Amino acid sequence: MSGIAERIVRGGYAVVFRAVFANMDPERAHHLAFGVIKALPGIPVLSGVVERYSRPAAEDGVTTMGIHFPSRFGLAAGFDKDARGIAGLGLLGFGHVEVGTITAKPQPGNDRPRLFRLIADRALVNRMGFNNHGAARAARRLERARRNPGRPVIGVNIGKSRVVAVEDAVDDYLESTRLLAPFADYLAVNVSSPNTPGLRGLQEEDQLRPLLTAVRDAAGKTPVLVKIAPDLTDERIDAVAGLAVDLGLAGIIANNTTIERTGLVTPVEKVAAMGAGGLSGAPIAARSLEVLRRVRAAVPSDFCVVAVGGVTTEQDVQDRIDAGATLVQGYTAFLYEGPTWATRINRLRRRRLRRAAR
Ligand code: FNR
Repeated sequence: MSGIAERIVRGGYAVVFRAVFANMDPERAHHLAFGVIKALPGIPVLSGVVERYSRPAAEDGVTTMGIHFPSRFGLAAGFDKDARGIAGLGLLGFGHVEVGTITAKPQPGNDRPRLFRLIADRALVNRMGFNNHGAARAARRLERARRNPGRPVIGVNIGKSRVVAVEDAVDDYLESTRLLAPFADYLAVNVSSPNTPGLRGLQEEDQLRPLLTAVRDAAGKTPVLVKIAPDLTDERIDAVAGLAVDLGLAGIIANNTTIERTGLVTPVEKVAAMGAGGLSGAPIAARSLEVLRRVRAAVPSDFCVVAVGGVTTEQDVQDRIDAGATLVQGYTAFLYEGPTWATRINRLRRRRLRRAAR
């Protein structure tokens, strides 16, 4: 989008956010905004204009894991849990969209409220609990989404069904893998969300090795990545990175939300009242950058490392690339920055990359 049009939409969104969204239950606001995104591809003239202006710079494209990504910047898991808005999100400028987390069995997730805004911190706390329609329905949607020639790269993030015991997790992940790998450009194994009891324990060596080995073998040619928590100790980060390389995985996604509540300006009582869940957004940026550096130091240079956590500006994207990220993702800032977020990042990246090429 031209800088001016983009600024107008951005300013308009800021007004709507303050006047409407901020006074609304965050999950309802999400559904409302997502409804518009899903409808976008069906509005001929508007979608054409948006697509033209939001498009990533060709210079920002990168090939990793055998896949060409039209840009380094994409949307992290959790926004499009059921693979329903891929085309619209692509039109908004995301070079890839990681859908999910999808579980083998459909499930409602945790009781509401389960999503909270910390506006002063540009952060969120969520304990959604993998609300999703299940892998079989997602597979049918993905099959359709893949046929769209202008689509973004599609990552599919899988997790454990809540009703399945941790001891049976491997079979449950395998069911999702078999259903979804054929329709995924890459598969992300989520063992790091804090909202499914026992899930993060799967990051322990004795559980992680058999799980990742099984998923890798069942995924066939589809590259497999593992998504880790920022709350792992440095030693565990090194060990998981080593294991991922050892098993011949395609990459690591660093990182998921944190259970920490440090460095917030939102009053402690207010944060405490929100209850359990994962914190995301600006306050996790520093730790995410640290985790990224740690992971990058532990893996070969051509190993795909996806940086996620607190990314807001184009400079944040560049900082992650400078720290060794192959790809960069974000979620929380989308809510605060609005629909032109990826467009703006794409425009500023085009400018940066063209300047550097001169
Ligand atoms: C998430 N995230 C997430 N991650 C994942 O692997 N599976 C999921 O289902 C979800 N769901 C989810 C819901 C909500 C409401 C949020 C805010 C986040 C985590 C997300 O993909 C990302 O790793 C973190 O949010 C950190 O990035 P940001 O938000 O700081 O850019």
